[in-house]
Amino acid sequence: MTEALDRAFLQARTFNAFQPREVSDALLRQLYDTLKWGPTSMNSQPGRFLFLRSAEAKKRLAPALSAGNLEKTLHAPVTVVVAQDSRFYDQLPQQFPAVNAKPMFENNAVLAQATAFRNSALQGGYLIVAARLLGLDAGPMSGFDAARVDAEFFPDGRYKTNFLVNLGFGDPAGNHPRGPRLGFDEVAQIL
Ligand SMILES: Cc1cc2nc3c(=O)[nH]c(=O)nc-3n(C[C@H](O)[C@H](O)[C@H](O)COP(=O)(O)O)c2cc1C
Repeated sequence: MTEALDRAFLQARTFNAFQPREVSDALLRQLYDTLKWGPTSMNSQPGRFLFLRSAEAKKRLAPALSAGNLEKTLHAPVTVVVAQDSRFYDQLPQQFPAVNAKPMFENNAVLAQATAFRNSALQGGYLIVAARLLGLDAGPMSGFDAARVDAEFFPDGRYKTNFLVNLGFGDPAGNHPRGPRLGFDEVAQIL
């Protein structure tokens, strides 16, 4: 238990540099097959995941990256585009048969967007924690132009990029000093 807590949270770091070690298809599949069990509202599972591993794919991403994220992302073994499917509700009848929820989202764009954003962000968080528990390291990023990523990888407009995650076996030499976290009494109350 202590080891799992260390690996997932207490000792886990955000990585900027990675060892020159490949991440296999099998491990990426295992990563998805782990994170998919994280809960989403009405089991909606709006997250979509594009694993950019080839040099060609990285080259397509490069123009959308902020200057500070460019080099480290090109060198990372894999970069995940965590996106949301704006029509996630099409699959709801199979995923959540208990309730006829599809019309609720289909007829309410604001609710659908909020649900897709909230739950795809959660699924991206599950991806980070699952990666760590599977022996990988992660470097999440929001410093990029989402509209450019969408235009390049999702031109039909259905998927929208939420954030990016570099993945691989981390090289701690690239880590920043760890920033402090807010204390319980600063952010929480028990009522
Ligand atoms: C959603 C998200 C977006 C982030 N965006 C960037 C980014 O664009 N560039 C960057 O270098 N770090 C980025 N970070 C990394 C954070 O600064 C880092 O996770 C945080 O400082 C905690 O570091 P630690 O895990 O090493 O303690 C991002 C992290 C998250 C979760």
